[in-house]
Amino acid sequence: MKGLILSGGKGTRLRPITYTSAKQLVPVANKPILFFGIEALAASGITEVGIVVGDTKREIMDAVGDGGRFGVAVTYIEQDAPLGLAHAVLVSEGFLGRDPFVMYLGDNLITEKLAPLVARFKEERPNAQILLARVPNPEQFGVAELRDGKVVRLIEKPATPPSDLALVGVYMFDDSIFAAAKAITPSWRGELEITDAIQRLIDTGLTVRPHIIEGWWKDTGKLEDMLEANRIILDTLEAKVEGEIEDSELHGKVIVEAGAKIVRSVVRGPVIIGKGAVIENAYIGPFTAIGDHVVVRGSEVEHSIILEGSSVTSVPGRIESSLIGRNVSIYRSESKPKSYNLMIGDRSQVGLI
Ligand code: DAU
Repeated sequence: MKGLILSGGKGTRLRPITYTSAKQLVPVANKPILFFGIEALAASGITEVGIVVGDTKREIMDAVGDGGRFGVAVTYIEQDAPLGLAHAVLVSEGFLGRDPFVMYLGDNLITEKLAPLVARFKEERPNAQILLARVPNPEQFGVAELRDGKVVRLIEKPATPPSDLALVGVYMFDDSIFAAAKAITPSWRGELEITDAIQRLIDTGLTVRPHIIEGWWKDTGKLEDMLEANRIILDTLEAKVEGEIEDSELHGKVIVEAGAKIVRSVVRGPVIIGKGAVIENAYIGPFTAIGDHVVVRGSEVEHSIILEGSSVTSVPGRIESSLIGRNVSIYRSESKPKSYNLMIGDRSQVGLI
């Protein structure tokens, strides 16, 4: 079985973070979202992975390389324009050949193990297996209607959803998906929808098996989503201290990566502190991811994500439920007059006390 990861398209939802980076490379618990997908495929025994790339090809290739460090061989497949998920499957036909495959959307995170699902798919050989999850906002996804445990209808982003079962961005297909993808026409949003291709499989009498999962995440553009993804993943990690700890207290699941230094501070897990980070006279509270080479001095941070290279110095109030981009500095200014001095990118949000 092969793997196909879709990592093309443009990042519009997580702005401003994705103005400067592909959305699949936004880190969750200090790891790009895309890497979780590659690791999930590798853990289910897949060794050949195709990655569909678009405008952000360079960045994706620089981050993933040849896949060796994940134990897979990666082939990059170029898609000229993001014309839809079914279009991405069609441009990958040469790579996939007649092999069945797992298609994984590069901006999705699932905590359920793929291996048992892949094993079942191989054994029972339906034409497609789809993953579904119950969500409070089904109109933002592809939605499935089931009857007696069977999929009867799939609709992409319906105004009036027939159920709360959203299509998760992980699918398994045999080669009948190519004929289905060739038979459909673009949707109202101008894309060849995989949802329509799967509906086509159903309409032509082929077998589409549903599987309902828990523990799924997909950004819908809100800060709260990123923080939730961070919470979900931090909870699954094991404590590990490779950095240096001096006169500090570490409670609960705390990961301190090599070269990081924690001095006269309190850290309450689950927390990850990236390589080369410095935490000094500070408090880092639960569900926080501190990126590589971040400095937090004389400040308190909780339930937040700070991306690499940023610094937080002598901030009087606690920073909470925040997402701070790369190379940002937040510091207390001693200069007079007492004023806020800000240089903030487009679409940023700042909550002052
Ligand atoms: O995340 C699950 C949802 O993914 C499903 O519920 C929907 O049924 C499905 O259509 C899809 O919806 P989105 O509109 O959210 O997909 P998005 O445009 O975000 O693309 C998903 C991934 O695929 C993302 O990593 C970008 C990549 N992509 C997207 C398109 C349209 C490509 O590589 N090529 C493309 O042409």
